[in-house]
Amino acid sequence: MKRRESGSGQRRISPTNNRQSGVNIMKILITGGAGYIGSHTCLTLLEEGHEICVVDNLVNSKEAPLARVQEITGRHLDFQRVDLTQKERLRRVFAAHSFEGIIHFAGLKAVGESAVMPLPYYRNNICGTLVLLELMQAYGVKNLVFSSSATVYGEPESVPIRETAAVGPTNPYGRTKLMIEYILKDLYQSDPEFNIAILRYFNPVGAHGSGRIGEDPNDIPNNLMPFISQVAVGKQPRLSVFGSDYPTPDGTGVRDYIHVMDLAAGHGCALEKLCQNPGVVTYNLGTGRGYSVLEMIAAFERVSGRPIPYQLVDRREGDIAVCYADPALAEQDLGWRAKRGIEEMCTDVWRWQSANPNGYE
Ligand code: NAD
Ligand code: UFG
Repeated sequence: MKRRESGSGQRRISPTNNRQSGVNIMKILITGGAGYIGSHTCLTLLEEGHEICVVDNLVNSKEAPLARVQEITGRHLDFQRVDLTQKERLRRVFAAHSFEGIIHFAGLKAVGESAVMPLPYYRNNICGTLVLLELMQAYGVKNLVFSSSATVYGEPESVPIRETAAVGPTNPYGRTKLMIEYILKDLYQSDPEFNIAILRYFNPVGAHGSGRIGEDPNDIPNNLMPFISQVAVGKQPRLSVFGSDYPTPDGTGVRDYIHVMDLAAGHGCALEKLCQNPGVVTYNLGTGRGYSVLEMIAAFERVSGRPIPYQLVDRREGDIAVCYADPALAEQDLGWRAKRGIEEMCTDVWRWQSANPNGYE
């Protein structure tokens, strides 16, 4: 007879874990924890008292943020350099710990690159998730928070976007996210012991207030905020504003920028929600307010005191005019709402970028 991978049933969260603050202290596996959002979430969850193990293959990150997270919090986390698609390596991590919950950040995320090389995106994001889910099932770990994206909505019919809006991603990266959402729902149908929170992030920006951790793109940044901050610090000569003829007040694209520390807090709230056995739940994590590219440039100039030279260029293929969340469901169900505005987002990015002009190098 084939040996079971683990003898345990589902690990429920023990009520004896309750501490004075009311937070259920959990042993959590964080995939992709060395990355931008993952490292900020590790920091927040360590501060809440959770025990953390990170697996990351460092394909788009470095180990340095994890060292800094431990410095800032004064707490230890376990790091294993593992590629999720390598099942035997990941199995050893499951065998060595008794996880009560998983936060799954690991994935490739560059929209443009996903159109140029879709197969590595499908392999990495889908196969990595399947391996993770198989091991979760085998080891009876059935609480999962998954990083999805507002990109699953594609071109929205109307804004603000609710979770019930039609989905229709327009690029391979977005399709991997939507496919994983379907896989998670099918898994739950087959095994209702699973509790899964699907979090659809809008546009994460900002950095921890210490200025010690932040976003550190490997190459020329694809996203607006890291590009602006690299212009401010002199690493890029000027910003190209993609499109000035959108049907928006100033003609430039409008997005819902959310501070990464607010996003990190949302993960703590989602873990708490899983303790109530909700089944599969899906939440938008955004602020509910959109800002244009020109508004973001102006805010950054205000807080940094640096000029941001820019030129108006053609639209970027695949971009949409306006995208912002209706975050009411997350507030109602999770008691979570974004607290930080764009001034704080820009201030924290500037503190990080000016103190670390070459990122973690
Ligand atoms: P990131 O690239 O900084 O972090 C992802 C981490 O996953 C990296 O550290 C990378 O090395 C790791 N990784 C990738 N493939 C792996 C694999 N096979 N095995 C092990 N580790 C692997 O990205 P981020 O901005 O922190 O995003 C985190 C998650 O949130 C991703 O799933 C991303 O798709 C999603 N998301 C991000 C944004 C955004 O704008 N940043 C928006 C919506 C959703
Ligand atoms: N933009 C520029 N110049 C740049 C970069 C961006 O003008 O150099 C503009 C874009 O056209 C858009 C806005 O700035 O109007 C924001 O662009 P980003 O690339 O920062 O973000 P996107 O909204 O295109 O996409 C991001 C992530 C996706 C995620 C999505 C969720 O890259 O992974 O947010 O809403 F799915």
